[in-house]
Amino acid sequence: MNIHKGHPFEKPFLGIHHIYANDHALLGLRDGHFADGAIPVFDQLESVTADKASVEGERVLLGVMRKDSERLGKTDGRGYEAWAKDSRNSRLVEDGGTACHACHTQQRGRDFVFSHWRD
Ligand code: HEC
Repeated sequence: MNIHKGHPFEKPFLGIHHIYANDHALLGLRDGHFADGAIPVFDQLESVTADKASVEGERVLLGVMRKDSERLGKTDGRGYEAWAKDSRNSRLVEDGGTACHACHTQQRGRDFVFSHWRD
């Protein structure tokens, strides 16, 4: 996805998004059921216009979701964390993932994940 100005998710998700997945999450992206240990990752980059093309700029944030039904009951078995820019220690989630989960709840029917596998 590439979110432009004026989109309802512009703040804070303006820019280019890549989605990565570990093996468990890959299976989930295909069938909509995510097993414990599934980790989808959201990589958000600035979208920069250069030579009449949109290209990746700096990283904005790296967001991670992890399914762990036993430890993360408060947020339906999902843990959330995000790191600012390229930092490995500047964490952005301060509420235990409640705000992240509030939006991802729209996708309850697909185990709280928005993305789909594209064949
Ligand atoms: C306002 C709604 C909203 C909020 C708040 C939100 N997300 Fe998301 N998230 C999305 C949407 C929509 C997508 C999928 C589409 C895209 O952006 O490419 C997504 C995708 C993801 C993905 C990839 C798996 C998936 O669901 O497709 C992860 C991981 C993720 N978000 C983590 C987080 C984290 C961590 C937070 C909190 C810091 C967060 N999200 C907050 C809307 C939201």
